[in-house]
Amino acid sequence: MSDVLQKIQSLKKEIELFEFANDQSAEEFRIKYLGTKGIVKELMSEMKNIPVEQKKEFGQILNEFKQFTESKYESLKQSSGSEKISSHDQIDYTLPGDEMPLGSRHPISLMQNSILTIFQRLGFAVAEGPEIEDDWHNFTALNLPEHHPARDMQDTFYVQQNPDWLLRTHTSNTQIREMQKNKPPIRVICPGRVYRNETISARSHCFFHQVEGLYIDEKVSFADLKQTLYFFAKEMYGKDVKIRFRPSYFPFTEPSAEMDISCTLCAGAGCTVCKRTGWLEILGCGMVHPNVLQNCGIDSEKYTGFAFGMGVERPALLKYGINDIRLFSENDVRFLKQFTSAI
Ligand code: PHE
Repeated sequence: MSDVLQKIQSLKKEIELFEFANDQSAEEFRIKYLGTKGIVKELMSEMKNIPVEQKKEFGQILNEFKQFTESKYESLKQSSGSEKISSHDQIDYTLPGDEMPLGSRHPISLMQNSILTIFQRLGFAVAEGPEIEDDWHNFTALNLPEHHPARDMQDTFYVQQNPDWLLRTHTSNTQIREMQKNKPPIRVICPGRVYRNETISARSHCFFHQVEGLYIDEKVSFADLKQTLYFFAKEMYGKDVKIRFRPSYFPFTEPSAEMDISCTLCAGAGCTVCKRTGWLEILGCGMVHPNVLQNCGIDSEKYTGFAFGMGVERPALLKYGINDIRLFSENDVRFLKQFTSAI
């Protein structure tokens, strides 16, 4: 019996929403629900399948349904007639409007957008690339041939069906694609999600976001790199921020460096966030290795360039005072709706 009851419930909803466009649809309604082969009759014939002790209750429900359908038919027939009041006239314009719930942007998007905007003002164009990438664009073209030890630095997720495919470990794949597609001068900024097989904890996750930049032209020097990143740091962290470069190693850049900024919380005095050093590491950078340019068909005798890459999660944790990176991917609206910004 519960099946039939459920059916009646949903029929009621359907009927409630029914509106007659003209006399013809009124007739269609009558045939469908109240006709000799209509739904009400059909339900009546279910009576024989109902156990004796439930027949009375079922009969009452059916009767009620029949009356409901008939009265809907009557009222609809009237309003579909010549005196039908148009739905336009029924609107009460003095009623308050429906509230439009406002969403909020994800803190990672907010942080990513503020990074992008700064570089866009310097003439960088935003470029995006695939998250599932082939080995060549993620590694080989970036001067990391097969068996290169630096491949182990980036614990890679491979696609099972095809060992040549992987989840990109950095957005440098997009820089390669841009260099293949365009001729210098190239000035792009590449945001996106990247994946590394790391244990998930409050500090690290198996996926995160990066923004990487690339500038290729004649006579681009390390001084240009430094000036660009200094401008970025001042715009992002305030005009009093200090920067420093430490020598580092990336296979795709030579020379390579890591850039630190003076700690935004203690201004260099030393606190727990900067582990008492007064500095925060924010990005890796360097001059694009000639092999990388050659791999993409760019004359490395004529052109030089710089590249840099930074994570988005860490600065977002700092800016919003969040202490667990996992919160970014848990989709808890109570967390997410706290972030509002004009960007
Ligand atoms: N691709 C590097 C990473 O993911 C970052 C980087 C980009 C370093 C460009 C130097 C130059 O860690």
